[in-house]
Amino acid sequence: MKKSPYQPIGIFDSGIGGLTVANAIHKALPQERLIYFGDTVHLPYGDKSADAIRYYSLRISKFLLEQDCKMIIIACNSASSAAYDMLLDFFEGKALFVNVVDPLVNEVVARGFEKVGVIATKATIHSGIYRNKIKALNQKVRVSQLATPLLAPMIEEGFFSGDISKSVIETYLKHPDLQDIDALLLACTHYPLIRQEINDFYNGKVAILDSTDVVRDEVLRLLEQEELLSPKRMTSDAFYVSDYTTSFEETAKTFYGEDIRLEAMHIWI
Ligand code: DGL
Repeated sequence: MKKSPYQPIGIFDSGIGGLTVANAIHKALPQERLIYFGDTVHLPYGDKSADAIRYYSLRISKFLLEQDCKMIIIACNSASSAAYDMLLDFFEGKALFVNVVDPLVNEVVARGFEKVGVIATKATIHSGIYRNKIKALNQKVRVSQLATPLLAPMIEEGFFSGDISKSVIETYLKHPDLQDIDALLLACTHYPLIRQEINDFYNGKVAILDSTDVVRDEVLRLLEQEELLSPKRMTSDAFYVSDYTTSFEETAKTFYGEDIRLEAMHIWI
């Protein structure tokens, strides 16, 4: 079916971490209407099986397609790892799908890093997606991966820029597998919020890369290529969560960097 530039862009994550990606897109393309879905009922995805994550991603994508989205951004590394290929097959031609893994992999290889560390959820690390995709582009890059499952819930609970987060971050980053690296990939859309703390740990000596800017650039490139850039936003953005609490709303503001209102959307009932 022919898509129109006026259709919205759908973005989803397990929770509100994907708002870091949504905000980068909103800032670069304020004329686009965004429909965000955070699956807070099932948070965190990082501890779930690939099958469960695929099932959630399928249902959420169906919801976003019912909202008439021209593009769906999987703003979650765990879901990008487990479900991107399946979503492409299942919804072929219905919308453009963007994952958060490929743009980061392309960036790290293009910049010529040789010793790369990856921190992410268990689901992303166990999928091996970063190692496999980086090695497929350049066999010589050494990739060390570490699952850091405490980080996303810690950030989601608002624990960052403090003593607790400093201690958790240091414990992970001191792991032997993460020594002697020249770049660290923040392969979880929650982690941009602790980017400064990670940078402080390394004293600026290791390049810290996250997916926000590279995904934004990929979205822009694809919309341009498909002639789907919206000239004008017709209605306001929508931010849905599958389970609403006031604390999610408070944290959401920090993630998005602007005042936003979350609405409950019960797609699981
Ligand atoms: N934001 C998700 C990701 O990028 C992680 C959070 C979760 O485990 O649900 O993988």
